Amino acid sequence: MGAAPRGDHPLVELAGVSKEFRTPPRKLFERAQTVCALTDVSLTIARGESVAIVGESGSGKTTLVRQMLGLSTPTAGTVRFDGVEVVPRSRDLGWLRRRTGLVFQDPYSSFNPRRTIGQSVAEPLEGSAIPGDHGEMVRAVLERVGLPHDAATRYPDAFSGGQRQRIAVARAIVHGPELLVGDEPVSALDVLVRARVLDLLAELRREFGLTLVTITHDLGIVPKLAERTIVMQGGRIVEDGLTADLLTAPKHPYTQQLVASRLRLPGTTWRG
Ligand SMILES: Nc1ncnc2c1ncn2[C@@H]1O[C@H](COP(=O)(O)OP(=O)(O)O)[C@@H](O)[C@H]1O
Ligand SMILES: [Mg+2]
Repeated sequence: MGAAPRGDHPLVELAGVSKEFRTPPRKLFERAQTVCALTDVSLTIARGESVAIVGESGSGKTTLVRQMLGLSTPTAGTVRFDGVEVVPRSRDLGWLRRRTGLVFQDPYSSFNPRRTIGQSVAEPLEGSAIPGDHGEMVRAVLERVGLPHDAATRYPDAFSGGQRQRIAVARAIVHGPELLVGDEPVSALDVLVRARVLDLLAELRREFGLTLVTITHDLGIVPKLAERTIVMQGGRIVEDGLTADLLTAPKHPYTQQLVASRLRLPGTTWRG
């Protein structure tokens, strides 16, 4: 386990993945509902790629990345990371935790207010029992993402939303993962701060050879973020291609609609 051969396999591979949720009846005589959050999703992501996942709320984006990270068990299909099958619950996924990192949307609920930034950022190092001086590793990564020198000793409430997302990125990469997943990582930030955090992600990708998978509902940031875009609707991938092609010549009607509605917003253009 974890001793996967590196290089010959796609970093992420989903084959025929479906995920159903059964929700219990809310009222007397109501039936249990089954929600198909993902239906027959197949995709591969190569090492070093940057992929954006777009689609309306409820289209299955979060459920999709949770399968990649082994945080949820598919109802059908297989998930592989670097050639190794990911089987949540039935197997120790410590090796996958070490090789992946996740940044959530909300910079305010992502941190325990009673733990120092240093303690929070060190969590993946402790969880994965990474050898070395954790304090030093935390200070180095905080400096790398652009936080002030004394950040490690301070508490989350001392920082702005943008700084907290930098801290969240630091926590997601401190243990040296190969795959960094962001679930709407810049959606809660204002435009200027958002651009700087996107620049940071691009730098980190180059520096550490990271593979990036980023969920966003903002088509405007996709060109800056990823050379490949996956469009989801109703639990299915409806389009998957080069970002530049997808934005200039969308094939699927849903993508066409997304691109068209984006263009109608005043003052927002993603074409240079
Ligand atoms: N734990 C869950 N229990 C029941 N239904 C869920 C659960 N997680 C997601 N869903 C449902 O699955 C669908 C896809 O959700 P999600 O992956 O969160 O979409 P997105 O991230 O694109 O907004 C939605 O209909 C959502 O209500
Ligand atoms: Mg979501």
